[in-house]
Amino acid sequence: MKFTLKVWRQKNAQEQGSFVTYEVFGISEDMSFLEMLDVLNEDLTLKGEEPVAFAHDCREGICGTCGLFINGRAHGPLTGTTTCQLHIRHFKDGETITIEPWRAKAFPVIKDLVVDRSAFDRILQAGGFVSVNVGSAPEANGILVPKKNADEAFDTAACIGCGACVAACKNASAILFVSAKVSHLSLLPQGKPERRTRVLNMVKTMDEEGFGNCTNTGACEVECPKGITLASIARLRREYCKAKIKG
Ligand code: SF4
Ligand code: FES
Repeated sequence: MKFTLKVWRQKNAQEQGSFVTYEVFGISEDMSFLEMLDVLNEDLTLKGEEPVAFAHDCREGICGTCGLFINGRAHGPLTGTTTCQLHIRHFKDGETITIEPWRAKAFPVIKDLVVDRSAFDRILQAGGFVSVNVGSAPEANGILVPKKNADEAFDTAACIGCGACVAACKNASAILFVSAKVSHLSLLPQGKPERRTRVLNMVKTMDEEGFGNCTNTGACEVECPKGITLASIARLRREYCKAKIKG
């Protein structure tokens, strides 16, 4: 298969970027999207040109580093799929594919398709943890957790911090990410002692980092590769209100 790729190239956060068009040939439908970029980079390197910078690590949908805006969609055309798990068979031979980095003030471009997502790390440092000493692994039935809570905590813990929710949101809001982190900890007994300070500190840091406000458009839920839902945002709001009222 062959493709025309319109790729965002940008030297660094200070300089302006622009789209550069490349042709790639001999692409197998079984390749992943990132493997197609590997082929492009090999071609560019052999020609003595600068390869396209893009972020990746696990290539298994786990680490959350690979996010790209592909044809106007965060992580491309499939739902529930990270960029690294997207395969070429979902594109038409000869198609033009536009590839951009996440666009958000809080995620400045480092180079080409790589953005700085350390704002997420700082939000996690503000409260995305449990600091009680839990000792060694307890007996499985020692702390009983209702199945509904365990299931919901597990579902929200699936967030990989990829930032697609921010990229998809017209306000560049990080509320889906923060709500997933607040949810999975506040639903479990180990997370309850710090639930008040956690939600207040994480929301405060989110605002300080320059993310936009949520206006309930729901694009985040549609583009989240891990199925985090708006119910998580509702839970965050309840947690926040309770924390504020308790003072
Ligand atoms: S909520 Fe979904 S889209 Fe947002 S960072 Fe987590 S996994 Fe990515
Ligand atoms: S490279 Fe790890 S989620 Fe895609």
